[in-house]
Amino acid sequence: MSVITPDNIGSKLVIALDVPDRAAALEAVDDLSGLAGMFKIGSQLFAAEGPGLVREIVARGERVFLDLKFHDIPNTVAAAAQSASRLGVSIFNVHAAGGAEMMKAAVDAVSRQDSERRPLILGVTVLTSMNSSSLAEIGISDDAASQVVRLAALARASGLDGVVASPLEIELVRKRVAAEKFVILTPGVRPAWSESGDQKRTATPAEAIRLGADLLVIGRPILGAPRRRDAAERILEEMESAGAKANV
Ligand code: C5P
Repeated sequence: MSVITPDNIGSKLVIALDVPDRAAALEAVDDLSGLAGMFKIGSQLFAAEGPGLVREIVARGERVFLDLKFHDIPNTVAAAAQSASRLGVSIFNVHAAGGAEMMKAAVDAVSRQDSERRPLILGVTVLTSMNSSSLAEIGISDDAASQVVRLAALARASGLDGVVASPLEIELVRKRVAAEKFVILTPGVRPAWSESGDQKRTATPAEAIRLGADLLVIGRPILGAPRRRDAAERILEEMESAGAKANV
């Protein structure tokens, strides 16, 4: 498995392993091997199974995105970044709201790793569960879009490789922050044939690619499908129809 860079992403499909335990996670990895560019491990699975499962999935030759959204003092985030790198993950993320000093500490910690293992670091801008009134509650009077642009610009200036953004913010980040060489990973992707669930600001896989996303995170439309490989293949075809590369 070659090291991932913004120019060498390969398959843009990231499958969210939003499952409760190791057995369910490994079953999904087996079901979907060869179709996912990467598997995402978030706080639910990590809190249940810990770093051992991350190592196990990496050892199977799969790329892993560790979605733990670090947000702490710079020294602590630097140490967490180093631990994440040592697990061999391809991507991990931090909250851009932690500030420039915190983001730079994560970048410095990772750049001390050997280049074979250097993961990409993405900044979480504004959670898609927040809107202007929940931002006002925490003292941010700007609307969500302005806050996304501000945090994405800060993430870029701090040396991060990209950001997590909803489909509705991709164009804004491309226009106002970075036209290219800045990874945009987007959740909230729903094929026209699947349920939207609790995702509100959604785009289809083809739309998200056309808007300029580099990586699409998709969970339930694949994991909840009666035939997971068929669902993933259908999504990959939709992505390719919009110009995404197919190779894993
Ligand atoms: O099942 P679904 O396709 O909605 O899964 C999307 C994944 O992306 C979930 O793991 C969810 O936690 C994550 N995510 C999100 N919205 C964000 C950040 C992460 O849906 N803003």
